[in-house]
Amino acid sequence: MKTNILYVATNNTSKFREIRQIAEDYGIHAQMPAVPVDVQEGVVSYEENALLKASFVTAQFGVDALGEDSGIEVPALGGFPGVISARFVAGSDQDRNNALLERMKALGHGQRQAVFKAYIVITLADGGHLTGYGELRGSIAGVPAGGNGFGYDPIFIPDGYDRTLGLLSEEEKNRISHRRKAIESAFRQYRGHSGNTAGER
Ligand code: IMP
Repeated sequence: MKTNILYVATNNTSKFREIRQIAEDYGIHAQMPAVPVDVQEGVVSYEENALLKASFVTAQFGVDALGEDSGIEVPALGGFPGVISARFVAGSDQDRNNALLERMKALGHGQRQAVFKAYIVITLADGGHLTGYGELRGSIAGVPAGGNGFGYDPIFIPDGYDRTLGLLSEEEKNRISHRRKAIESAFRQYRGHSGNTAGER
């Protein structure tokens, strides 16, 4: 019987955890590769970075692989921090949250909208790749709240909610997240490739 194992090209254990949980809903068993994903991320696009990560694993092991790249964008700051969300300030997630909150102070009340964007690229062992995209719209909170999730979760309030992602459970976040939507889109295309049954629910 075919087992639907898919290697996830990430060194970020929080992201891996989310991707693994979402993938399970599609009958896919996500695994982390045995070696670190050693790629130099660029500043051009999320999609390019996701492709770089997935291609690294496919080239190393000759298997299908899933790469992900994501970030948060504040339209009133011209889309900042975007593709450099993980590194526009050195230090911890908390340092970056504080740095973004600091920049938000220059903006008016009506300018706190933000969007998380995620790209998933699945590189295929027999050549080619598939791309999925997802976004989650919301706004930046005044102060951080909640210890769940990672990254900007404590300062992001999804539209339709009155709490930050940091205060939502893992299940709640995974139901609505940009990553969930991007994975769904990629798995719809992946279904049938190499005999896998992704997405047959
Ligand atoms: P990269 O994709 O590993 O380059 O980094 C993505 C950046 O966006 C990191 O700073 C993450 O913390 C942030 N990010 C992406 N998705 C999420 C999310 O679901 N919650 C909070 N932060 C996120």
